[in-house]
Amino acid sequence: MLFKRSHTCGELTAKNIGEEVVLNGWVGPRRDHGGLIFIDLRDRYGVTQIVFTEKDEKLHEQAEDLRAEYVIGIKGEVISRGEAVNPNLTTGEIEIEVKDMVVYSEAETPPFEIKDDITTSEETRLRYRYLDLRRPELQQKLLMRSKVYESVRSFYHDQDFAEVETPVLMRSTPEGARDYLVPSRVNAGKFFALPQSPQTYKQLLMVSGFDRYFQIVKCFRDEDLRADRQPEFTQIDVEMSFVDEEDIYSYHEALMKKLLKDTVNKDISTPFPRMSYEDAMNTYGSDKPDTRFGLEFADFSEIVKDAEFKVFSGTVANGGGVVGITVPGQGEMGRGAIDRLTDRVKKETGAGGLIYIKMQEDGPLCSVAKFLTEDIVDRMVEKAGAEKGDLVLILAGPKPEVLKQLGQLRLIMGEEYELIDESAFNFLWVTEFPLLEWDEETHRYHAMHHPFTSPKAEDIDKLDEDPGSVNARAYDLVLNGNEIGGGSIRIHDQKTQSRMFELLGIGEAEAREKFGFLLDAFKFGAPPHGGIALGLDRIVMLLTGANSLRDVIAFPKNQKAQSMMDNSPDVVDEKQLDELHISIKRQIREQLK
Ligand code: AMO
Repeated sequence: MLFKRSHTCGELTAKNIGEEVVLNGWVGPRRDHGGLIFIDLRDRYGVTQIVFTEKDEKLHEQAEDLRAEYVIGIKGEVISRGEAVNPNLTTGEIEIEVKDMVVYSEAETPPFEIKDDITTSEETRLRYRYLDLRRPELQQKLLMRSKVYESVRSFYHDQDFAEVETPVLMRSTPEGARDYLVPSRVNAGKFFALPQSPQTYKQLLMVSGFDRYFQIVKCFRDEDLRADRQPEFTQIDVEMSFVDEEDIYSYHEALMKKLLKDTVNKDISTPFPRMSYEDAMNTYGSDKPDTRFGLEFADFSEIVKDAEFKVFSGTVANGGGVVGITVPGQGEMGRGAIDRLTDRVKKETGAGGLIYIKMQEDGPLCSVAKFLTEDIVDRMVEKAGAEKGDLVLILAGPKPEVLKQLGQLRLIMGEEYELIDESAFNFLWVTEFPLLEWDEETHRYHAMHHPFTSPKAEDIDKLDEDPGSVNARAYDLVLNGNEIGGGSIRIHDQKTQSRMFELLGIGEAEAREKFGFLLDAFKFGAPPHGGIALGLDRIVMLLTGANSLRDVIAFPKNQKAQSMMDNSPDVVDEKQLDELHISIKRQIREQLK
């Protein structure tokens, strides 16, 4: 029997007093009070208190048997709670006096209580993800995600973008990670790759004349996982024809403005600030700087290049840097605290050591004062803009490592001394990326973004003699220190694209084999085009204040790229493997036994 609900559990208020209503939901906490049984009935909309009196003995007995997480339907009358109002609930002024009940489902005792702020291990929560998802906190996060889809879709549709689905079974695209491969049964020995992104397809859609494309699309990357990376994640993928960087910026500033208004009711100002990759590295030691707080770098290299102190002068002589940040108000930090900080910095950032200047009442106190002249210390203090009571922290080392290390130290300090405005949404475009990155291990260039990104027109001449100095027409969108998007204006002519493959060490034959379709497409009239992909999961994570992508994905993978709930990936039958013409190496077979 189904008691068709008249209302949800988050809906009824004092206005409904006297009405006969029907509610459906899950049994939450219960309290027995001298014959009265109170139960919090929960669904995704909220909680309503229901009460069983002793008027109907049979019903009362039934209520005594109710356990947590039973699924029930009740009929009853909305009554006032009188004195016992709960101001924390929208339904807190009323309760339902139950007149009839149906138990749809009994429930075993769940492995953890269905409520927020539980301390259960994430492993257990992921194993019973369907129960974890009953908790209001996670429900709110997924509902926010749902709002994000709605807001994003309506934005692009309003701007006349075409929503197009691209294949999930495809040829591999080089986005820098490893591919997830899918064996083909009917094409023995051959494999599809799951898309790391729909990059080539969206460019082909421009060649086809779609002009403006978007898609909310699953991407798959077999890479080392972190809190902000999942093997399977969602992009808001966009491509536009006849545009330059400015168009991409202004459309996506408008998107973000709408999105923040629709989801967290925040007004943000546009246009977003922009910073070159080089400035970001030199000022914040990161290509995704968190600009919610200062602590910008001071470069002391010039001041200390002739110092007797070899750690400084030697570093500069070898092309390295001596750089620092000024932490306000920490000039009195004690020896023990500095030692602990030094250990942490060495461990977490890989820096060799930490040098400091304490801005004390009677003047600066530098940890390596005996190797430096007073003048050098004074000039460093001036350059750092340090004032009485501040603490200047200094690292020396090869570039760019030392910048990244100081960047990490900056974040540690920002958090430690609560310098970050947690309510702010600080967007930033990072621009002027190098086109190529030299890889010492493989001794060749890699595309910093991907091989389809256009070099800056003014740098094209440098492609031959000094490819490392060529800048790309690429950009990243950063929010509060997180890379939430990246894109570029693309190469749209076959000649430049072939030249790019060549620079990346992809020979003509290999380029033909892997990207022949794209090179061919460019022969038939390709419009200038460019685009961007935004990380939807990361955006939802930041909008909901979650610490991990796992909290905003319904069924996420753990750090080992496994699903704890359905225990995947898993071994498959020999028969299935046979059909796919695959055999597992003996050594692995032994391990799996
Ligand atoms: P890119 O590789 O920068 O660009 O990816 C775009 C955005 O996707 C998000 N992202 C991820 N989110 C969660 N888990 C991951 N493993 C993960 N990897 C990336 C990030 C990132 O900024 N085809 C290009 C886009 C283009 O050029 O238009 C691309 O995929 O937020």
